[in-house]
Amino acid sequence: MENSNYNSYEKSTKKDYSEFGKEGLDLRHWGTAIDISGRRFNAYTDKKYIQQEFSEPIKRYFEQINIEQKEALLVDLGGADGFLLNTILQNIDEKNPDVKKTGVVVDLDPTEKERVRFKKAQESGERKNINFAVANVTELPFEDNSVDVIISRMTVQYLNQNKQREFFQEISRVLKIGGLAIIMTVDDFSEGEKLNKTLEEITSIISGNSNFDRSLLTYNTIKLLGKDFEGSAFKPILGHRNISMPFSIEGFADRFNLDEDKKQKLDIVFKNGLKLNPELFEIIDGILCLKAKIHNMQLKKISDSNKIE
Ligand SMILES: C[S@@+](CC[C@H](N)C(=O)[O-])C[C@H]1O[C@@H](n2cnc3c(N)ncnc32)[C@H](O)[C@@H]1O
Repeated sequence: MENSNYNSYEKSTKKDYSEFGKEGLDLRHWGTAIDISGRRFNAYTDKKYIQQEFSEPIKRYFEQINIEQKEALLVDLGGADGFLLNTILQNIDEKNPDVKKTGVVVDLDPTEKERVRFKKAQESGERKNINFAVANVTELPFEDNSVDVIISRMTVQYLNQNKQREFFQEISRVLKIGGLAIIMTVDDFSEGEKLNKTLEEITSIISGNSNFDRSLLTYNTIKLLGKDFEGSAFKPILGHRNISMPFSIEGFADRFNLDEDKKQKLDIVFKNGLKLNPELFEIIDGILCLKAKIHNMQLKKISDSNKIE
């Protein structure tokens, strides 16, 4: 089954996104990131970070669209409960009230928990002008050339490499010419497959399922995709990768409510990993962490010629 591994991984998830960041910027909590100046922030909820990485480029997109345009469609692929899209729509509407913007969250949401949160938020007056579409990010329910802006945060790494290609093909199909895509994902430091392998082990402990069918976009993969995009439908603006997102055992335990047995198993993976691949780990605040980076890329669709195979 295409998504069986993903389903069981997600089923083990108990935490609510709205809790992210509440507990401070300790590496034992999920989502803590560090920028090059040493500033720590929650990668999922930090307002300044969302503003800088998503809202500002999207505002710039709307500043240069045809003045005749009265409506626009913004889509979040793997958008979960719609928190990010909602935040962005609120940010950008201050400056562009003339264009009516509709948002769509696309998510498979196998456990339905994201839809429950989405509806709850709508009932409290949030998520205005946003709809939820249960769909696969590799089969988008949109017409060709119909979407102004696509965002996707921490989702493409849930796909295997073939599906990642389909993901980018779908983006290139549905985006309008001139449209903007902002894709944020986890990237490794080692420019190889070692982080993927370590995460494979970690995922199998967390989910109890050893069938790992997903792939991080390593820096090399992204560079190759970037090459593919050259002269094709996309003009890639390969974004920064200077934000680190260290994963600690406690962080995984926090996110996935792990019991002591699973934590001990992770401890073995981390300690063996440190011995075998010391470049993949680092100790921060006395806590052993698996190193990872956030990679953010912006893509602008410049033509209909789709050379991504
Ligand atoms: C780590 S969460 C990120 C959520 C959100 N983008 C954010 O940054 O807060 C990944 C999301 O992608 C969704 N997802 C994973 N694979 C998917 C697929 N093939 N099609 C649609 N949604 C998918 C999951 O259900 C989950 O909500």
